[in-house]
Parts: sequence; structure tokens; C-alpha cells
Amino acid sequence: MATGTPSDHVNSDEQTPSARTLVIIPTYNERENLPLIVGRVHEALPHVHVLVVDDGSPDGTGQIADDLAAADADGRIHVMHRTEKNGLGAAYIAGFHWGLERDYTVLVEMDADGSHAPEQLHRLLDRVDGGADLVLGSRYVPGGQTVNWPKSREWISRGGNLYSRLALGVKINDITGGYRAYRREVLEKIDLAAVASHGYCFQVDLAWRALQLGFTVVEVPITFAEREFGESKMSGGIVKEAFFKVGGWGVRSRWDKLRRLVGSR
Ligand code: GDD
Ligand code: MN
Repeated sequence: MATGTPSDHVNSDEQTPSARTLVIIPTYNERENLPLIVGRVHEALPHVHVLVVDDGSPDGTGQIADDLAAADADGRIHVMHRTEKNGLGAAYIAGFHWGLERDYTVLVEMDADGSHAPEQLHRLLDRVDGGADLVLGSRYVPGGQTVNWPKSREWISRGGNLYSRLALGVKINDITGGYRAYRREVLEKIDLAAVASHGYCFQVDLAWRALQLGFTVVEVPITFAEREFGESKMSGGIVKEAFFKVGGWGVRSRWDKLRRLVGSR
């Protein structure tokens, strides 16, 4: 694993939280995409560090990540190799722990496939620097959009968001999105060991926990572009997991509220 501390490569303005940003990129079979995305990140924001979390991709993505890290003279690229494909959620949690053990102050989630434009990362970081605790890149606020996404995927996504809004009673337009920036305090406070979600559900899970802990969660518009290379790893099972888990959290939180209300009388 390549090392190097973020303090060696900070923004010119040392004071802002985003001066020490770690962009976590989970990968499973992303060999064409990884060099492109990492290049775009550093083109857009040269000071940020990248952590690739590869689950032993059979297509050799892990080796490509190591080569990118070795070639970066500034030591901004780090790689975590995991032996089993354990889903997006588990990969992110491992990445969060890695970042929290070091002195990064903002941790970003970004897909490897180009759906999340690094050129728009500053929109998220600016809001963190402005005081937000969790910034969600949103496709469904004014200015946000999806490009080249099959209509079927868009309806699943819109349906999932509507369902989450109703079940949880939150006002967030895109709670399933996977392009987001966390202030480190949020991840320090969330009980990461208790998070068992895998797919979209993982995104809902973390935003819901952040909201319940009283953190400020805001949305900024992003353009989500469908991948050109490789395949999505999402499946029907992932939709099912989200349906039951999110519904369960909604019921539990309403039940808890009711109990508190009755108990206080
Ligand atoms: N390490 C690891 N392990 N990475 C994984 C795994 C895994 O088991 N599964 C997926 N990934 C990586 C992919 O390689 C990619 O970089 C990223 O996670 C997203 O995977 P995709 O398969 O491209 O997801 P998607 O495009 O269907 O879903 C995206 O949009 C959803 C909302 O519409 C993601 O951003 C989701 O998080 C989001 O909920
Ligand atoms: Mn994708």
C-alpha cells in the first residue's frame, strides 16, 4: 500500500476543511475507467488524495491502481486491496476507517465509472467549507440531471427516492445518490460497525443516520452520466434490500416517536 500524508499536499488555503480531502473510489472490474477517473480528479483538484478500494477485481483493476499510485510522484494515490467482493457498502466503510485513521477532514464517495464528474466536486466541497456536515450530489434538484441513463433505471431511482421520503419522512430529493462529501465528524459519530447495508440502501442508511444524529445535510445539483465502459453491479436483490430495510427504519422511527409521546404524558 502506498503511503504519504495529506498534510504534504494541501490546498493553498490551509484553513478550509476541504484542504485535506480524501476521495474514496470503490472498484470492481473498472480497468478502463480507473485511470480516467483518477486523472480527472487530479486535473480538477490537484491537492486531493484518492483511495482506491478494490475487491480483488478479476480484470486486474487492483494492479492498475498500484501502478497509478507508484507513478504519482506526489503520493496522492493510495490503494486498499481486499480479497473478497463484499459490496459497495463494505468497501466504503473500510475506506472510511482508513481515512479516519489519518488526518483527512473531508471524505468523499465517488464511483469509478465516470458517473460522478470530478469537475463538479468543488460544488460539494464548497458547501462543506461553508459549514454543511454532509453534502449530497443530487440529480433531482434544480440544475441536477441524469444523462444517458435508461428510463428503467431512472424510474427505479425516482421510485426509491419517493419511497424513502415517504417511509422516513425526510425532505431529501436524492437520498440514494452515491456522490457525496462527509465532514469527518459525521463518520466518527456514526456507528459504522452497525451499518449492514450493501447497495443503494447503504447510501440511504448513512444519510438517515447523519440526519438522526442532528447533522446538517444539504444537496447540490450534479450531472449523473451513465458509464461508457464496463457494467453496473446493481441487481434486483439490491432493490429488494432497500425496500425492506428503508421501510423498517421508517416504521421503527415512527414507533419510537409514538412511544416517547405516550411516555411523556
Ligand atoms: N470494491 C467494490 N466492491 N466496489 C464495488 C462493488 C463491490 O462489491 N460493487 C460496486 N462497486 C463499485 C463499482 O466498481 C463502481 O466504482 C461503484 O462501486 C458504483 O458501482 P455501479 O455498479 O457503477 O453502481 P450504479 O451505477 O449501478 O449505482 C450508482 O448510483 C446509485 C444511485 O442511482 C452508485 O453510485 C450507487 O451507490 C447509487 O446508489
Ligand atoms: Mn455506475
